[in-house]
Amino acid sequence: MIGVRLESDVDFDGWRSAARGLAAARVEPHVIVWGTPSLEAGLFGGFEDAPGPPFGASVHTPRAFIEEARLAACHRDPDRFDLLYRVLLRLQREDGLWSRTVDPDIHRLLALAKSVRRDRHKMTAFVRFREIATEAGAAYVAWFEPVHRIVELTSPFFVDRFAGMRWSILTPERSAHWTGADLVFGPGATRGDAPSEDALEAIWRTYYVSIFNPARLKTAAMQREMPKKYWANLPEAALIAGLVRDSAAQESRMIDRTTKAHPRAAAIRRQHEDAPKAAAHGLEAVREESARCTRCPLHQHATQTVFGEGLQTARLVFVGEQPGDSEDLAGKPFVGPAGRLFDRALAEAGIARADAYVTNAVKHFKYLPRGKKRIHQKPNAGEIDACRWWVDRELAQVKPRLAVALGATALRSLTGKSMPVIASRGQVLPGLGAERVIVTVHPSFLLRLPDEETKQREWAAFVGDLRRARALMEA
Ligand code: URA
Repeated sequence: MIGVRLESDVDFDGWRSAARGLAAARVEPHVIVWGTPSLEAGLFGGFEDAPGPPFGASVHTPRAFIEEARLAACHRDPDRFDLLYRVLLRLQREDGLWSRTVDPDIHRLLALAKSVRRDRHKMTAFVRFREIATEAGAAYVAWFEPVHRIVELTSPFFVDRFAGMRWSILTPERSAHWTGADLVFGPGATRGDAPSEDALEAIWRTYYVSIFNPARLKTAAMQREMPKKYWANLPEAALIAGLVRDSAAQESRMIDRTTKAHPRAAAIRRQHEDAPKAAAHGLEAVREESARCTRCPLHQHATQTVFGEGLQTARLVFVGEQPGDSEDLAGKPFVGPAGRLFDRALAEAGIARADAYVTNAVKHFKYLPRGKKRIHQKPNAGEIDACRWWVDRELAQVKPRLAVALGATALRSLTGKSMPVIASRGQVLPGLGAERVIVTVHPSFLLRLPDEETKQREWAAFVGDLRRARALMEA
């Protein structure tokens, strides 16, 4: 048997360096014992030391594995280091293992990492410092009870946030102390070691009321995110019931404030209200009528209706989700970052945008105000169905041979059904306003992909779908 002695329960770097040598020598997992301080001291009697890596041997470790493994190492599962080594060795032997998320080892590793990630999120959200007087001036102390061993991993977050204060975070197993220059870790503490009341409480309460966003209020989700167990440490918890009661009125006030804070949007709205109205026919008449749409509440806060654009006799129609921030201001579909990417893909697929008609399932920008920023929100089924009124009229005028749904919202609009994009991709579906519908991903999905390899793969698949649309339209 080989014994590897790790310096602490979260000694990921120690594990990593030993594991690389062992995996390079293809040492089987069952002959290794990973020892941590929380295991018995006598564990190592009679074990061999780990060998160094054999000369010239290499170990292949995908970056995502290292990131997930670093998190999983902080989990309380006593077998975590065995699991990590088993996966590392299997990665050397099995092509494509890392992407097989149904594999029991990969599934377990990802589940451990997810649980730790969630615990870290809770710590960053729920640690509350209380002021104490010391000889060197004010210092701040917080009490927190993490589920996993996340103190070392998460404390740098607080260094970034509160670099100018001296603070300590006390937990039952570890404590972290920021001196203003160094971050040091020590043994655990008890709740009684941390102060329970101070003047900062009032400041936290004021802060919480000012950041409380009623438009995002989902009581069940809030309780899930802020479990009762943390409430005792949170000065703002006492305010929640009152804020919930007041939230509907506060939401309207916030949206009004944002609309006013966005002078460009306000000026464009006024221009539309004052513009002279001329008689129009066909698609133009539908467009004009849609400018006065009040079929759902989204018109109240958007700058304007963003109607479709393009060839009025196009054989190919593309339907997106809804206008984004740029489209809302410009009054035109797909002119922002997703639109530019879409244009490139069309060009690569040999489709001239001017020969197609491009529109959206929902014609008003749905967003949440955050200061002067407007954060995109997905339209719900009621909003999609209300706006189908306009999509149907556009399709009835244009009469395309094929409609392409860009993403799930457009797919619901064109077929009347909520279906996953991936399951429907590649099929020709019957549509409500167009006879034939195919679906591909929304271009903004391509903007959010994490790594170069996935980006290239998804880009090729997207362009492939557009080529197929061209062929179907011509057939
Ligand atoms: N995303 C869409 O779905 N439509 C647009 O017009 C812009 C971004």
